[in-house]
Amino acid sequence: MSDFFAARADGYDEHMLYDVEGCKEGYVKMAELLPQDAVQLLDLGCGTGLELDEIFKNKPSINVTGIDLTQAMLDKLKQKHPDKNISLVNANYFDYDFGTNKYDVAVSFQTMHHFSHKDKIKLYSKVFAALKEGGQYIECDYMVIRQEDEDFYYSENKRIRKEQGIPDKEFYHYDTPCTIDNQIKMLSKVGFRIVKMNWRVENTTIIVAQK
Ligand SMILES: C[S@@+](CC[C@H](N)C(=O)[O-])C[C@H]1O[C@@H](n2cnc3c(N)ncnc32)[C@H](O)[C@@H]1O
Repeated sequence: MSDFFAARADGYDEHMLYDVEGCKEGYVKMAELLPQDAVQLLDLGCGTGLELDEIFKNKPSINVTGIDLTQAMLDKLKQKHPDKNISLVNANYFDYDFGTNKYDVAVSFQTMHHFSHKDKIKLYSKVFAALKEGGQYIECDYMVIRQEDEDFYYSENKRIRKEQGIPDKEFYHYDTPCTIDNQIKMLSKVGFRIVKMNWRVENTTIIVAQK
């Protein structure tokens, strides 16, 4: 995963803003949805910080912890925002300890569509624990409507991995979007009280989950 994004760090922002339908507007929408009084923000898979570019326009002094596997992406973020309160962590968010009751809001943008339900549920539990009471998790990602589509992408991923002899633990870049219904179920399962789809353009979808 890290090698995949390191090779794409140059030109990454232009690709997301102009080639991926819904993303440009999604960054703006995510910033609008941030709770007014949010002070501590956790960004999972922050990359070069496109969501933060918009968030800093409304909240220039917000404290951000940004976690990403790819150092080359974090370097770009740091270059764009040298004066902001950002703590950058080069780590795998599945392994990293987020702590408990620390954040007002957690966000993720286009980083969750490669993983199994089991792995996502484990990660969402950690996000839930890391949020303060009443805190929110806002996810913008590639999601589908129909279960048949989700099943198709997961089974194609399995087939290709088998054909190419890629072990389960090894990363292979293939998108496996979940349905909006399944996303809502996974987030509800870990304890979020209110979970709603908030916005969608093409397949780019925002879900807000409240602790
Ligand atoms: C498509 S980019 C999105 C970056 C940014 N959020 C945006 O929308 O521009 C996905 C990012 O997630 C990061 N990522 C993927 N899996 C990760 C993991 N397990 N732990 C930490 N970062 C991860 C990648 O390194 C990459 O920077």
